[in-house]
Amino acid sequence: MTGESQNRVLSGMRPTGRLHLGHYHGVLKNWVRLQHEYDCYFFVADWHALTTHYEDPQIIGDSVMDMVIDWLAAGVNPASAKIFVQSDVPQHAELHLLLSMITPLGWLERVPSYKDQQEKLRERDLATYGFLGYPLLQSADILMYKAGSVPVGEDQVAHVELTREVARRFNHLYGREPDFEDKALAAMKKMGKKNAKMYRELRKRYQEQGDQEALDVGRALLDGQGNLTMGDRERLYGYLEGSGRIILPEPQALLTPASKMPGLDGQKMSKSYNNTIALRDDPRDIEQKLRTMPTDPARVRRTDPGDPDKCPVFQLHQVYSDETRQQWVREGCTSAGIGCLDCKQPIIESVLAELAPIRERARQFEEDPQLVRNILQQGGEAARDVADETLNEVKSAIGLKY
Ligand code: TRP
Ligand code: SF4
Repeated sequence: MTGESQNRVLSGMRPTGRLHLGHYHGVLKNWVRLQHEYDCYFFVADWHALTTHYEDPQIIGDSVMDMVIDWLAAGVNPASAKIFVQSDVPQHAELHLLLSMITPLGWLERVPSYKDQQEKLRERDLATYGFLGYPLLQSADILMYKAGSVPVGEDQVAHVELTREVARRFNHLYGREPDFEDKALAAMKKMGKKNAKMYRELRKRYQEQGDQEALDVGRALLDGQGNLTMGDRERLYGYLEGSGRIILPEPQALLTPASKMPGLDGQKMSKSYNNTIALRDDPRDIEQKLRTMPTDPARVRRTDPGDPDKCPVFQLHQVYSDETRQQWVREGCTSAGIGCLDCKQPIIESVLAELAPIRERARQFEEDPQLVRNILQQGGEAARDVADETLNEVKSAIGLKY
């Protein structure tokens, strides 16, 4: 992994509708936190959405702006993170194509989501070229920015794993310039005698004894060398590991903890279960949804005691209420001391309080969509700059520079 890109984070989301509290608690709060610590690139994966929605693409067009407004409203800040649309950076398609040349079919057929999704989305014909290539397009997204970390949910880990394999294969095939060793030795000299000696020793320790710590220390040593060019640094990374020059560094999945956000019926909140509270739902609708959501089915009359462990409302208390309030629910519910509407009232207040600033931030963008377009345009420009650089390196490595 190369120095500067270790600090880069990339993630994408498919535009297939408005975002809800599940997205907020699962993904967006995480992005907002990451944007302060890393060089973040967040993008709208419209081509990925097209792989499954090519027969009804209007949902994609309808959702892009709304989704970006939801991101901005949740606190993703274009001053900290680059925000862009995948199809505004056509370089992703070119890298996807080039990577497709070296990717064995079996690697794609074996990705678990390939068969899973075909089974799950039976009403769609997913026996297409594009859908098979879905994870490889994702690899192109990631490798384009040389991202060190990719925040994703459990279901996407296999895609990051594929990305690592494709990167390794690419580096193996194209990272070995004819004079690789000479160039690495010349680069080593630029570090100065003392550092070069340390580097040689660490390399030996790693390659002869598999000493992982030596590898880490060696990488840190390279990161600290201000006078190396990027190409030299990549050579020395590769020489350290015993591979060729590392052109496309391998990313790590940064596992997003599974969202504990329950939906209105106690199942996981998800559009397909029709149990969501959207981030920009009208407050009156939110109150209505919560007031009418089901409770412990055994608690029919106000005088019947209930069991919070059988009630979806209590799951919401576990997200929104402290110990004291949860205790209040337990006692009140099991003794029939409180009614279900009493029990729901603090949830209603918590959800409304959580969403009020989000709705407020969204308003300026809803009123002036040009603001959003400008943000996407600037993000796109920044993304294309990085993308051009990577593609040029990739093409030179393959030898496609005439
Ligand atoms: N496949 C991802 C999802 O469904 C979206 C995605 C596309 C993505 N490209 C990516 C996520 C690159 C992380 C990195 O959620
Ligand atoms: Fe559920 Fe609360 Fe009613 Fe008990 S009092 S059944 S926890 S809503």
